[in-house]
Amino acid sequence: MIILGIESSCDETSIAVLKDGKEILSNKISSQIAIHKEYGGVVPEIASRQHIKNIAAILDEALAEAQITLDDVDYIAVTYAPGLIGALLVGVSFAKGLSYAHNIPIIPVHHIKGHIYANFLEHDIKLPCIALVVSGGHTNIVFMGEDHKFVNLGGTLDDAVGESCDKVARVLGIGYPGGPVIDRMYYEGDRDFLQIPEPKVGEYDFSFSGIKTAVINFVNKMKMKGEDFKQEDLAASFLGKVVDILCKKTLKAAKDKNVKTIILAGGVAANSLLRSQLTEEAKKLGIGVYYPSMKLCTDNAAMIAEAAYYKIKCAKNPEDCFAGLELNGIASLEVTKDMY
Ligand code: KG4
Ligand code: ZN
Repeated sequence: MIILGIESSCDETSIAVLKDGKEILSNKISSQIAIHKEYGGVVPEIASRQHIKNIAAILDEALAEAQITLDDVDYIAVTYAPGLIGALLVGVSFAKGLSYAHNIPIIPVHHIKGHIYANFLEHDIKLPCIALVVSGGHTNIVFMGEDHKFVNLGGTLDDAVGESCDKVARVLGIGYPGGPVIDRMYYEGDRDFLQIPEPKVGEYDFSFSGIKTAVINFVNKMKMKGEDFKQEDLAASFLGKVVDILCKKTLKAAKDKNVKTIILAGGVAANSLLRSQLTEEAKKLGIGVYYPSMKLCTDNAAMIAEAAYYKIKCAKNPEDCFAGLELNGIASLEVTKDMY
């Protein structure tokens, strides 16, 4: 079974060819980070235009590397939600064009499910499991049953974890995206430098806005007083607190649901402290932690194709997973409300 994956929900244009749900024949990614860096964040209109400019060439490259033609493709998997609406529409429209011209069914994929299924490309994941979804736009604890059905246990009430990393990095003036920089700085700082109170929210819910504000207020206070501080100390205090909270709540969910597997998903799953701390703490409880390799943590189309592969595999009737030309992009949609 050959699935062509298409991803364009944010600032990466990606097209992949996946064989039989396991073999990535190609996974081409054109990142726009260098373009958006200048503005300190993703500019939606620029993102859409870049997707339009790149997508046809990325398709050619993905097909060439996989050594196939569109005649070999059984299904087209495309991210339809959530994301920047203009960006999503580029991928969705492109998928519809290919589908119509080559008579290939479209399987719409929820972006977060893509991040979760990235784990299935590289690991033998035993279900049920708890997925911690941490990206620039999302922070959720999701229960995934043996039947591949998803239950959202909780999520952020304000900022997503990646978003708060990027905002703190912007205030510190250390570049965009901030997550990878804060990740590196953690090891050169003192995590006990700034005491940040833990927000009081539901047991599986998160709030990062107060933590982010505590850091920003500290920076402003120091600037006003004309006092110096070590940026690494602040980055370490911030990331240390965030990772403690993520680990505590994820482990609680795993214990409560009596599952022995935790998977990390989304761009922030690349964070080295989160990976090591969660793995270590889970090990003491006999729980295994899995995460995708670096390349599959951030947005890519192989994970979208993989999510579609499992949709087909779990469906009573494959046609239940297909969308017609009425398919539209949706900017905001909870993972459990996936419509296909
Ligand atoms: O999943 P993703 O590529 O895009 C969204 O769907 O949002 O995630 C991007 C986010 C950014 O906020 C970025 O700062 C964060 O992932 N990120 C990291 C790391 N690498 C990327 N955050 C912390 N540590 C990292 N190593
Ligand atoms: Zn993503």
